[in-house]
Amino acid sequence: MKKLVWPVVMLLLGLSSCYYDKADVLYPSVACDTSTTVSYTQKIIPIFQSSCYGCHTSPGSGGGILMGTYILDKAMAVNGTLYGSVAHNNGFSPMPKGASKLTTCQLQLIKKWIDNGSPNN
Ligand code: HEC
Repeated sequence: MKKLVWPVVMLLLGLSSCYYDKADVLYPSVACDTSTTVSYTQKIIPIFQSSCYGCHTSPGSGGGILMGTYILDKAMAVNGTLYGSVAHNNGFSPMPKGASKLTTCQLQLIKKWIDNGSPNN
């Protein structure tokens, strides 16, 4: 009986990895790995750099809303406006302003980072 457990586990892992392979096809350059702790430095900052900091690091261009340091980015995560705006939820200004919505993978990474307590990692 025990001998069966590992083959079954490996089979299940194999099946679930097929599912993630499809996400790789949809978003070729970014494998969406949210299985581990999402790193602010390695995953979140690059998203913000390419889509947000251009407007939100100087007072004039981002409606007075500042990002670009851990303290500022975390405050936005904690008060709910970060996810509300990037997910285009009702009641929030959709972000990034004037550009297309972030990819599903980027949204998943941001959500996971917030759910983890938006750590400075
Ligand atoms: C082209 C400039 C621009 C870009 C790029 C941009 N923003 Fe904004 N953002 C603004 C402006 C201007 C406002 C003020 C509200 C408005 O005009 O919609 C704003 C408002 C916000 C708000 C407040 C929304 C609310 O409803 O309270 C948040 C949060 C925000 N931005 C986050 C982001 C994030 C996160 C990104 C990147 C994914 C981003 N912004 C990209 C210009 C930008």
